[in-house]
Amino acid sequence: MHFELTEEQLMIRQAARDFAQTELKPGVIERDEHQKFPAEQIKLLGELGFMGMMVSPQYGGSGMDAVSYAIVMEELSKIDASASVVVSVNNSLVCYGLEKYGNESQKQKYLAPLAKGDVIGAFCLSEPEAGSDATALRATAIDMGDYYLLNGTKNWITSGSTASTYIVIAQTDASKKHLGINAFVVDKGTAGFTVGAKENKMGIRGSDTHSLHFNDVKVPKENRIGQEGSGFKFAMSVLEGGRIGIAAQALGIASGAYELALKYAQERKAFGKAIADHQAIQFKLADMATEIEAARLLVYKAAWLKDNGLPFGNASAMAKVFTSETAMRTTTEAVQIHGGYGYVKEYHVERLMRDAKITQIYEGTSEIQRIVISREALK
Ligand code: CAA
Ligand code: FAD
Repeated sequence: MHFELTEEQLMIRQAARDFAQTELKPGVIERDEHQKFPAEQIKLLGELGFMGMMVSPQYGGSGMDAVSYAIVMEELSKIDASASVVVSVNNSLVCYGLEKYGNESQKQKYLAPLAKGDVIGAFCLSEPEAGSDATALRATAIDMGDYYLLNGTKNWITSGSTASTYIVIAQTDASKKHLGINAFVVDKGTAGFTVGAKENKMGIRGSDTHSLHFNDVKVPKENRIGQEGSGFKFAMSVLEGGRIGIAAQALGIASGAYELALKYAQERKAFGKAIADHQAIQFKLADMATEIEAARLLVYKAAWLKDNGLPFGNASAMAKVFTSETAMRTTTEAVQIHGGYGYVKEYHVERLMRDAKITQIYEGTSEIQRIVISREALK
């Protein structure tokens, strides 16, 4: 067992760190304030090869491992979790889903532009009345011979208005329950497909979250991903990898807040000395550092299992629940260490605290991760 990163992983980390400092940090407060999508930054991330990190070069990707992907997600999320969620969905839900389960022509047509960052992808599972209980989804895709007729509403879709390629999960035969569900690729601009209003969110405000409406949308037969009835397993399988991305995002939010708190604690004076010289603050910093280290090991372990072709669903659920709860605790303590300054926007930690909250909700809430983990333990 060894814990060192490879030379390549260290170089990738440095590239992501530099990018976050030079391209994401300027303007991050304004983008959050005005809910401005980081379009220019996402384009540059595509040029760096970070939008299709694990995709084979054959399909326009960078052919990197999942550990490198987690490292990049952490570094970007230290500075801007709104940008990193776009990276996460594109890499681990859309590109991974197409590369693992798509056929050759779907890969040529859809995967290559997504992996190069020429277009953005969205993953559409959740609905107004079906989030955690994903098999309860109501969107229908009726087999009409040459095409499927898609009807329904998807909620909370990340990159809802900025994406061009949408993976939509819908019910084709309700009598078969989850075995009647399919996954489809739907192009932006298809007749009957409209994007609803943008959500006004607590955090990750730079990312665009929308409801999507499908009204008699004709989806060509060749746009179904995988075998008839495989859509639910497709979604669950893809989410196993997605949860590594979100766990790494939460890790980044936590470490970003910790780094700011560590620096501030050494600069700010109270009662004649730096607040870092008060043991109460030292113990907060010690707890933050310890939890972040444990979180990082869980994230890397899940990514390592994936890279080695071993089952990783349980590990990714553990990584997600632990890192997201670490992010919430760490960012709250980082605000506390900043005192009143932590409560205003210029010091970044209040944004990190707002951003941390979503990591306990999307890609399966903390309660859902505990269901996944306990089912594995009890089986
Ligand atoms: N891989 C493959 N198949 C799986 C699977 C997995 N990880 N997990 C379950 N399945 C299969 C099961 O084997 C079962 O199939 P069979 O009976 O044919 O064997 C079928 O799926 C149903 O499984 P369950 O009985 O376990 O289903 P359930 O109704 O109890 O739900 C759940 C399980 C884990 C709670 C699931 O519904 C779930 O993960 N919910 C959360 C949804 C979620 O994470 N949404 C995220 C949306 S994307 C997003 O949020 C993006 C973003 O933020 C940016
Ligand atoms: P519910 O499922 O209604 O849950 C409400 C509460 O009940 C939660 O605390 C939950 O944990 C709890 N609960 C539910 N069932 C159980 C149970 N069996 N046991 C214990 N507790 C339970 N979805 C997509 O498909 N694509 C996206 O790109 C996407 N991006 C998102 C971006 C944002 C900003 C947000 C807010 C959401 C996004 N989502 C996306 C949706 C997200 O995945 C869901 O919000 C999430 O899965 C929870 O579903 P819900 O909101 O319907 O809550």
